[in-house]
Amino acid sequence: MPQELSRNERIKEASDYLRGTLAEGLAEDITGSIVEDDAQLVKFHGMYLQDDRDLRSERTRKKLEKAFAFMIRVRISGGVLTPQQWLALDRVARVYGNGTMRLTTRQTVQLHGIIKSNLKSTMKAIDAALLGSIAACGDVNRNVMCNPNPFQSRAHAAALELARAVSDHLTPRTPAYREIWLDGERIAGGEDEVIEPIYGKTYLPRKFKTVVAVPPHNDVDVFAHDLGFIAILDNEGHVEGWNVTVGGGMGMTHGEPDTYPRTADVMGFCRTRDALSIAESVVTVQRDWGDRANRKHARLKYTIEDRGLAAFRAEVERRAGVLLDASRPFKFTSTCDRYGWSAGENGRGHLTLFVENGRISDVKGGAQQLAVLRKIAESHSGDIRITANQNLIIANVPVERQAEIEKLAADAGLLAPWSGLRRNAMACVALPTCGLALAESERYLPDLIGALDERLAAHGLSADDIVIRMTGCPNGCARPYLAEIGLVGKGPGRYNLYLGAAFDGSRLSKLYAEDLDHKAIVAALDPLFAAYAGQRNAGERFGDFCIRAGFIAATTNGRDFHANVKAGTAA
Ligand code: HEM
Ligand code: SF4
Repeated sequence: MPQELSRNERIKEASDYLRGTLAEGLAEDITGSIVEDDAQLVKFHGMYLQDDRDLRSERTRKKLEKAFAFMIRVRISGGVLTPQQWLALDRVARVYGNGTMRLTTRQTVQLHGIIKSNLKSTMKAIDAALLGSIAACGDVNRNVMCNPNPFQSRAHAAALELARAVSDHLTPRTPAYREIWLDGERIAGGEDEVIEPIYGKTYLPRKFKTVVAVPPHNDVDVFAHDLGFIAILDNEGHVEGWNVTVGGGMGMTHGEPDTYPRTADVMGFCRTRDALSIAESVVTVQRDWGDRANRKHARLKYTIEDRGLAAFRAEVERRAGVLLDASRPFKFTSTCDRYGWSAGENGRGHLTLFVENGRISDVKGGAQQLAVLRKIAESHSGDIRITANQNLIIANVPVERQAEIEKLAADAGLLAPWSGLRRNAMACVALPTCGLALAESERYLPDLIGALDERLAAHGLSADDIVIRMTGCPNGCARPYLAEIGLVGKGPGRYNLYLGAAFDGSRLSKLYAEDLDHKAIVAALDPLFAAYAGQRNAGERFGDFCIRAGFIAATTNGRDFHANVKAGTAA
């Protein structure tokens, strides 16, 4: 018997291609909020309705409505911006937002704290910079990521071209975005096929995320995504074609073992000319086969688990009219960024900056990172790239400008000599804006790293690259289950600790200990650091060591993410 469709399916169906009553809701000025169904739809336009959770209890006491504001996530394929686009976003953040920009783990920018009455002006300013936010959130193909590797210029150019082509091809076609935000003319609805030839009226069962990776760097975390293309290079660094990956995803729910993170499978190899039709077919098979009754079972990863990779592949090939070849060998070495200068094939320099947790602001009496980046952008002739690790690359800098840019960045603390742990850290936003956060993340991780760095220094490990990631809830926005040390919020001040992921992003971690507070996290990790310092093999990574030394069992597939959790450490 077919199961009842989820509520979101009914909202999409009734929305007239994502219009809902958004236009009317925006004009309603007695509240800073919008109605519940529209709050679901507005995600497809790249926004989340949020409220400042730090202010909730005070405002309730004063009988005021919550401090509502919107977060807008921009769509930036491959994370590449012109300096002019950077300046436009910087201006929006200062004029309409909360004066900060946040580089995200999926190579976009989030602008927080935009009140309803400023939404349209903000959207128009973003549009004037030739950017948009359609499909940055919602049940559609979202921002397409691409390895920002500027030093492999030719391979990067091909990867970026594919990322942009997939993004353009899979962008929703609904005129609702233009009508609602940009005062576009209302266009009468027509046949499904005409309005949304790929998605139809109800779009996808759940969010869908695509990346393009260029080995040996796996900074985009290709295995965490629904669809991935891994560049296969010839001896001269030219792209021969792409291995296609499917079925990765991070989200799960505490205490619900039917939900789990999963690393993607490599499905086969395709030529560049076939990549778009493969991408479209993967999307349409998921559109038709994905679970529309249970949103916790709706991502492509579960479709592939339920139907099997072979059947999924056969259907994709049938729809695309393309037979995939056997996948080709590739090797990833790490998921990290290369900080500092690197020289490109084109003779220009690329400077990777460290932006802690991606948050860029001007701190009162402290670092003026927003202002300094504005100054750099004002005279920069190259481009600006957001990395998948929430960092920034000032790319394609001619030799004569390098010293000046380096000094500006260094003075703002964007080039400091951080420890091996801090260099490889990521945290999601969590409190105060994210309504789903169970614990702090972005505001707490820097302090935790300070405490862990003291222990690492005591064991002589300060310079070792160890990947640590934290999220405020199990949804996994900072991909914590692919970190060598993963911390996932359980409740205020409490975290679950996951260990044993691979440094190159190819293996998930496993639960090691539950419900730890700050002291307990440090106490749990200190003996592991000591053992690692004393017993590791040459070149052995921390995640691999934790498995070899018997601290944690390896997770070979998403299905056994919850299996073999050691008694006594985690329930
Ligand atoms: C069911 C799963 C998920 C839900 C419901 C969810 C929801 C959210 C929400 C509400 C925010 C906004 C937080 C804020 O800015 O205040 C957010 C941020 C974000 N999420 Fe998710 N998320 C989920 C899983 C994921 C996963 C698995 C990824 C990446 C692989 C991801 C990537 C992001 C990114 C890049 C941001 C921007 C902030 C950052 O970089 O931390 N999300 N998510
Ligand atoms: S992981 Fe959870 S707390 Fe963090 S941003 Fe995502 S949804 Fe919010």
